[in-house]
Amino acid sequence: MLAVSPKCTHEGCDVKWMAGEKKYECPCHSAEFAADGKVLKGPAKTNLTTYSAKVVGTQILVKI
Ligand code: FES
Repeated sequence: MLAVSPKCTHEGCDVKWMAGEKKYECPCHSAEFAADGKVLKGPAKTNLTTYSAKVVGTQILVKI
């Protein structure tokens, strides 16, 4: 399981999850990222930062 930082790697806007398309889109300059944070479309050139995560009982623990 992965946790994905919402900060776009282009200029730091918060990306939005597009559930229907299963990807993140940046509202500032239209970069797109896959569910695992990989760049699908620029201008961003670097993947979103990801962290390992796991479910423990009713909590999600993210290792930062
Ligand atoms: Fe996200 Fe520019 S800040 S594409």
